[in-house]
Amino acid sequence: MSRMPAQVRDLIRDLPDSKIREVSMNSIGKEGMIALWFGESDEETPSFVREAAKAAIDAGETFYAPNSGIEPLRVEIKAYMERVYRRDFDLNRFTVTASGMNAIMLSFQALVDPGDNVLVVSPVWPNCSETIRIMGGEIRPVGLDETDGAWSLDLQKLFDAADGRTRAIFVNSPGNPTGWMMSEDQRDAIMAWAREKGIWIIADDVYARLVYDRHHAPAFIEIAEPEDRLISINSFSKSWSMTGWRLGWITAPPALETQLGKLNEYNIAGPTTFVQHGGVAALRDGDPYIDGLVERLRRRRDLVTQSLSRFSRVRYTQPDAAFYAFFAVEGMDDSLKFALKLRDEAGVGIAPGIAFGPQGEGYLRLCFASSEQALSEAMERLRPYLDK
Ligand SMILES: Cc1ncc(COP(=O)(O)O)c(C=O)c1O
Repeated sequence: MSRMPAQVRDLIRDLPDSKIREVSMNSIGKEGMIALWFGESDEETPSFVREAAKAAIDAGETFYAPNSGIEPLRVEIKAYMERVYRRDFDLNRFTVTASGMNAIMLSFQALVDPGDNVLVVSPVWPNCSETIRIMGGEIRPVGLDETDGAWSLDLQKLFDAADGRTRAIFVNSPGNPTGWMMSEDQRDAIMAWAREKGIWIIADDVYARLVYDRHHAPAFIEIAEPEDRLISINSFSKSWSMTGWRLGWITAPPALETQLGKLNEYNIAGPTTFVQHGGVAALRDGDPYIDGLVERLRRRRDLVTQSLSRFSRVRYTQPDAAFYAFFAVEGMDDSLKFALKLRDEAGVGIAPGIAFGPQGEGYLRLCFASSEQALSEAMERLRPYLDK
């Protein structure tokens, strides 16, 4: 009996698989594997967040919630944003989403028509750009430049990449995988340019608090007027170690509240209700947790830097933000093949640079949000491959 071909839209059929998943496939949880491939901490969600969600279940918070999110969470988001960015925000600017990823998808669903293009500061986490493709938009990568392992953005290159069909620019700062962080001056210049051109800025701010020498990263949301064409994307995953909860939020102009609410309805009919109660606790009581996490990450970053900077094949400068070491390996022209070899021979799981677009080839990304013991062991195992 012949089987029916899978008749999905061409556009979906042609979507590439995530190359990070390709390396991790069948090896997640494998004994002895040191898994540094995904962007997540090895810490469980703090107990005060878990307790709040458990209490919400026990209190019967098991029903559908409003499209923009439960009121107590939106109120906490407002308080958090006002605390961090030291300015007022109206409640109608916030939409709770089922993760940062979902927030990215809702943003592009709201803005991108087939044939539009979006400038994407790259290399970047692949999910950010693939959502543009799903909407029938064109991804226009604007490559960061690397010198001695440090990353920078050439603003002129960004501005020159735009044309009459440019709908938005996507800026992930601090960035995954590079750790690049936009300066205040660059932020101001991009904002002024986007305002003049009427181009949307989608700011992926999920690593805004994971910075090592300041309280938070420079952000468009700090300087934008409520009516500016700006969508800021945030997530509970990274700063509160809640990757599996799937919770995030959008800050947008007030006029988008109803539109994003509709999209929330037609995508998932709202994020999980008791999970949102966990989010309330995270924002209300989580500042000390973030401070501690950043300190732990700083030690882990320094440990990884100590080794990587001694390995002769590696070109690397430690990042000022996020929790990734993104380094070039001399003589490596196929990062996927190399990452598979490291997985199979050394038992260390690392993401290949090519997973982040063609600009990422020649690099590897290691997430250092694991215990110092695991990282030391990983560095020992990597030495024969990176130090020759
Ligand atoms: C740049 C960036 N944006 C957004 C996300 C989405 O995070 P989540 O969907 O877990 O909230 C990630 C996760 O790795 C990321 O690296």
